[in-house]
Amino acid sequence: MKHLTFLITAGPTQEPLDPVRFLSNYSSGKMGYALANAALKKKYSVILIHGPTALTPPPQAKTIEVQTALEMRRQVQKYFSEADIIIKVAAVADYRPHKIFRQKIKKNTNTLTLTLIKNPDILFELGKKKKRHQTLVGFAAETTHILKHARKKLRQKNCDWIVANDVSNKALGFGSDQNKVIMLSSQNDAIYLDGTKKKIAKKIIDILVKERR
Ligand code: PMT
Repeated sequence: MKHLTFLITAGPTQEPLDPVRFLSNYSSGKMGYALANAALKKKYSVILIHGPTALTPPPQAKTIEVQTALEMRRQVQKYFSEADIIIKVAAVADYRPHKIFRQKIKKNTNTLTLTLIKNPDILFELGKKKKRHQTLVGFAAETTHILKHARKKLRQKNCDWIVANDVSNKALGFGSDQNKVIMLSSQNDAIYLDGTKKKIAKKIIDILVKERR
């Protein structure tokens, strides 16, 4: 069995607004941690770059905690060349507050308008510089036209695979122990997986490793 190094991102990013507030999302890190554990179980090396979660990182992984999308980008770029298989499960905030207020924002007005600026798309950047030996896997969190949007991300971000999940269903996706995903490959494969995140993670790792043989 060839030794492989996985780079896995997990959890949300938090984008600070003032000393007591931030913008974020509901990602718990469960899907990303399940993939890290599944790869470790097969004795592969894992670099796990994660946003703030309530989970305990697997001790066998090299674990790096970040808060913001910009921090995640810096760490992912640092470790990218060491990885054979990169799986970007993290729910990276697409936007961050334009200004981080040094003092707590006071509620003096009835409305408050915030200006947000776009964060860099880390997966898109990796798609441009990936090497032939690297397998790049994105996740797609969709609420409508799942396949159509996921295929577009697969193409635009130059991924080898994209794992699409319907996050409009509260029993699946964000925060849940269950998921239902479709793995789409750049070779037009479509693999449907359903069950606990642990079970799905094991299958995803098996599929990605088998494909490289
Ligand atoms: O953490 P859990 O509670 O277990 O929930 C799991 C999950 C729902 C978060 C996970 O299954 C999932 O769907 N992850 C992807 C979330 C997401 O950000 O999807 P997206 O469609 O917005 O982004 C597509 C891809 O681009 C993702 O691989 C994402 O990591 C990447 N991206 C997005 C924005 C950005 N600025 N940089 C990125 O790299």
